[in-house]
Amino acid sequence: MDSERPDEKEDRPKAGNGASQKPSDADDVKSLLRAASGVPAGSKKAVAGETATTTAEGGRASGVGLLERTKEQGLALKERARAEAETYKDPQQTQLWKSIFRVSHDRSDPRNRSLAILSNVFLHLHPAKINRDAVRYGFTWGMGGITFYLFIVLTFTGVLLMFYYHPTKVQAFRDILYLEHDVPFGKLLRNMHRWAAHLMVITTWLHMFRVVLTGSYKRPREFNWCVGVVLLVLTLLLSFTGYLLPDDQLGFWAVTVGTNMARATPMFGSEGPFGPQLGMTPYNDVRFGLLGGSIVDANALLRSYIWHCIGIPLVASIFMAVHFWRIRKDGGISGPAPVMLEAEMKKK
Ligand code: HEM
Repeated sequence: MDSERPDEKEDRPKAGNGASQKPSDADDVKSLLRAASGVPAGSKKAVAGETATTTAEGGRASGVGLLERTKEQGLALKERARAEAETYKDPQQTQLWKSIFRVSHDRSDPRNRSLAILSNVFLHLHPAKINRDAVRYGFTWGMGGITFYLFIVLTFTGVLLMFYYHPTKVQAFRDILYLEHDVPFGKLLRNMHRWAAHLMVITTWLHMFRVVLTGSYKRPREFNWCVGVVLLVLTLLLSFTGYLLPDDQLGFWAVTVGTNMARATPMFGSEGPFGPQLGMTPYNDVRFGLLGGSIVDANALLRSYIWHCIGIPLVASIFMAVHFWRIRKDGGISGPAPVMLEAEMKKK
């Protein structure tokens, strides 16, 4: 029967070759001392002797080991800090950059450049490759882009205006006067919104005109042309609903005239073709629905406000997203017909 205790078994091999070993920690020191004194490990004497000698010796040895290890760790830390600092010289090497862009951006390789664009949520909104001639200002006039930019300006300034405006008969016009005369930069804010609105109507028409001139409504872009027509109507509606909001004479009469025209809508207007036959009256026709009553009053102001600030911008944003997506799916901006270089013509 084996009478050895498990810890004795473990200790003996260490003691056997311990003399040539360099103690690296307290355990090693213990086994070395045991080997030198010839006391078997585990005996009472050994335990007592060990405690006395190893407290002093082992403490010194482990102190040295600890110091060495701390020194090594310090050096490693310094090295890591130096390497980290080195990466800041090139922001693309930082972990922050890599966590955002994910793919290394090697500009020398076109395929890698495409991958970098496609794998990034913001960059992928742009095509990875474009036809250089199609994006020339001479071809597009930049009108679609300018229209979109104006929409962004309108959204931004519109939200700021909402902080000062109340859509009620008592407050609306007073808020406009307050904005014009008392609010810091209020006049600038209001005029930025007004001018951007006028400009957006103009640029949308010009953009449509360009599309006609370059024949870009033709196959395969027929659907996008239709999306564009909806966008044009929405742009005009945005402008029209904004007209009433200052609740001044200009807006009041503009909306009175405009909604009177709605009386003549076929089938849905009380004075339009087939309207009366379908049961339309001034109290249930499309004009009534637009105004929230039979005259331009408080309900009309509130409805204009909600359509202007929420309903139409929301629908327009969705249609714009479809419009841009279609441009990509239709093969990018149409671009001019391919040109033949003089050198190529001479070859023929
Ligand atoms: C809110 C209004 C609109 C915005 C923000 C808008 C935006 C854009 C943008 C950025 C482009 C890329 C080319 C360029 O900049 O010219 C484009 C192309 C196009 N747009 Fe619009 N657009 C709007 C209204 C319209 C309207 C009213 C139409 C026509 C009824 C239209 C039809 C088209 C077509 C067919 C293309 C493709 C043209 C091509 O490939 O050459 N868009 N639009």
